[in-house]
Amino acid sequence: MPIEKVGVVGCGLMGSGIAQVAAQAGCDVIVREVSQQLVDKGLQAIDKNLARQVEKGTLTAAERDNIRGRLRGTTNLDDFKDRDIVIEAIIEQLPAKKELYRALDNICSKAAIFASNTSSISITEMATATARPDRFVGMHFFNPVPVMKLVEVIRTIATDPKVFEEVAALGARFGKTVVRTTDRSGFIVNRLLVPYLLDAVRALEEGVASVEDIDNSMKLGCGHPMGPLTLLDFVGLDTTYYISNIMFDEFKEKRFASPPLLKRMVLAGWNGRKAGRGFYDYSDPAKPKAMDLR
Ligand code: CAA
Repeated sequence: MPIEKVGVVGCGLMGSGIAQVAAQAGCDVIVREVSQQLVDKGLQAIDKNLARQVEKGTLTAAERDNIRGRLRGTTNLDDFKDRDIVIEAIIEQLPAKKELYRALDNICSKAAIFASNTSSISITEMATATARPDRFVGMHFFNPVPVMKLVEVIRTIATDPKVFEEVAALGARFGKTVVRTTDRSGFIVNRLLVPYLLDAVRALEEGVASVEDIDNSMKLGCGHPMGPLTLLDFVGLDTTYYISNIMFDEFKEKRFASPPLLKRMVLAGWNGRKAGRGFYDYSDPAKPKAMDLR
């Protein structure tokens, strides 16, 4: 049976993007948030993205209306009882995720697949909150979801290979290039990206170069779309700090250890773009100004 009915839990930055690409791929989508206000905020973000595509002529107004017709918000998890797959994109905290999966396990049919968009938490451990470890995978998207062409599909030692391939096919249907990997913290992308981002902070901390020069080096010297410190502000310093701690805990390797400056910035609440301040000051979002962090 092909996957047609998709549930997405969480309608923040990642969840709204996932709901959008699923609806654009022709799936029937329900997205859940904890309050109506958050549902509305997430759906507005999707509407804005779709409107931009209509303006650019990459989508017709009729196509936009069809996509929106396939997508609805809810605050009630019970609405997920007929879903073929539930993709979870809530806060990166294991207790919150386990509580959610326990509830979903009772609500959803036995055939439903559960997929987590986690970037570093163990899929195997989340699956223990359910009676369906064989129908549990990771499906890790990248920010901004409608733009980034990759999805990592993650299997555990308990995942049914048929389920794994069904989810990989769904990722391809969402218009993404699928990479297959196993349940090791950070999967492929963050295993390589996180040490690089942490090293950029270490270079700054050691006085190797300024914020702008570190960013320009990797942008112009290596052709990256964003320098590492801009990317840290984009991803969120708190998110990266959290991921690095989980990866350090998993591998006990220095390259995953958070540098003191990153920890201090997170403690100060300077979490990047969303906080208005990180390695750059976003008082004028069109012209971010490098912070003096000495
Ligand atoms: N939502 C939807 N579309 C967006 C968007 C958003 N938030 N931001 C930009 N876009 C679209 C724009 O509309 C534009 O579309 P067209 O080409 O069709 O006109 C396109 O993306 C390019 O945008 P811009 O011209 O405004 O800006 P840009 O060329 O600088 O691109 C970017 C913006 C795509 C974010 C680019 O800078 C980039 O690729 N940055 C790196 C992002 C990255 O590395 N993401 C992964 C982070 S790691 C992660 O997510 C996982 C984890 O676990 C931590």
